[in-house]
Amino acid sequence: MNILGIETSCDETAASVVRDGRHVLSDVVASQVENHQVYGGVVPEIASRMHSEAISGVAAKALSDCDMTMGDIDAIAVTYAPGLIGALLVGVNFAKGLSLSSGKPLIPVHHLRGHIASNYISSPQLEPPFLCLVVSGGHSHIIQVDGYTSLRIVGRTRDDAAGEAFDKAARCMGMAYPGGVHLDEIAESGNAFAFSFPRPKVDGAPLDFSFSGLKTSVINLLHNAEQKGEMLPTNDLAASYRKAVVCYLMDHFIKAARETGMKKLVVAGGVSANRLLRRELTALQSTYEIYIPALRYCADNAAMIAAQGYYEYRAGHTAGMELNAEAQRTIEG
Ligand code: KG4
Ligand code: ZN
Repeated sequence: MNILGIETSCDETAASVVRDGRHVLSDVVASQVENHQVYGGVVPEIASRMHSEAISGVAAKALSDCDMTMGDIDAIAVTYAPGLIGALLVGVNFAKGLSLSSGKPLIPVHHLRGHIASNYISSPQLEPPFLCLVVSGGHSHIIQVDGYTSLRIVGRTRDDAAGEAFDKAARCMGMAYPGGVHLDEIAESGNAFAFSFPRPKVDGAPLDFSFSGLKTSVINLLHNAEQKGEMLPTNDLAASYRKAVVCYLMDHFIKAARETGMKKLVVAGGVSANRLLRRELTALQSTYEIYIPALRYCADNAAMIAAQGYYEYRAGHTAGMELNAEAQRTIEG
């Protein structure tokens, strides 16, 4: 079954054709990152306009890259939630138009379910059940994936997402948006023991995260140094901060694995590109089955949407022309 996936939830306009949820036949991503960089973050209005300009060309390229036309496509999968509402609407309306004109089924896909499905592409042998750490720019969750469309949140962030915690700290250190990737790069040459950071706790919810305290403590460190006219070594600060965030994520993930008895551990989302997180997970291979997405499928893409779309379709989850975008929606149902 060939599924055309469409993704426009944030600042990447993406389209992809995936066969049977696992085989990527084409994968086109038009990134807007440079257009938002000057503002230090994604500007929703600009994102919507740029998606509108790019979507037709990106979808046409996804078809031509695998020598297909709409006649070869069996269904259209689209990210409908969560994300920037104006951005999501561009993809949803484009997919609805395609579905109406071609008569092919329309499949709504939750963006975070898509991130999890990036692992079905990278690891063809991976099947639920498993435990997944989903860490992106907007979300941080520990999810028990009982089936392809049966998911349960076992831990979540109470404030910032892990990607946000990286981006905000990186911004304070003077790095360009999105700073997570730059912070990760600079951290490679730093001493991770140079600075210490608190390990926040969420009362009564040991598997939940809170990143705001970590972010505040790096901001305070930088302000105090500035007031004293001191320059902190950015690589040491980045390395220490990265260690604090990654150890915090890993600590909760392992705790959740013990509590749920899950032996298959999976990571997904933009932050799964983090070098230290990947190394820490790989180091657990003697105790757990570890699955990490290929780097090109960590960030937002439409192949992951088409992959999850296949399993949503098999579960009977299609939509009609009433489909609407939703800025917020739980991954559970
Ligand atoms: O999943 P994603 O592409 O978009 C959302 O759905 O939010 O995630 C983007 C996030 C950004 O916060 C970005 O800084 C972070 O992923 N990120 C990283 C790295 N690469 C991307 N964070 C830490 N280390 C990285 N190497
Ligand atoms: Zn994402």
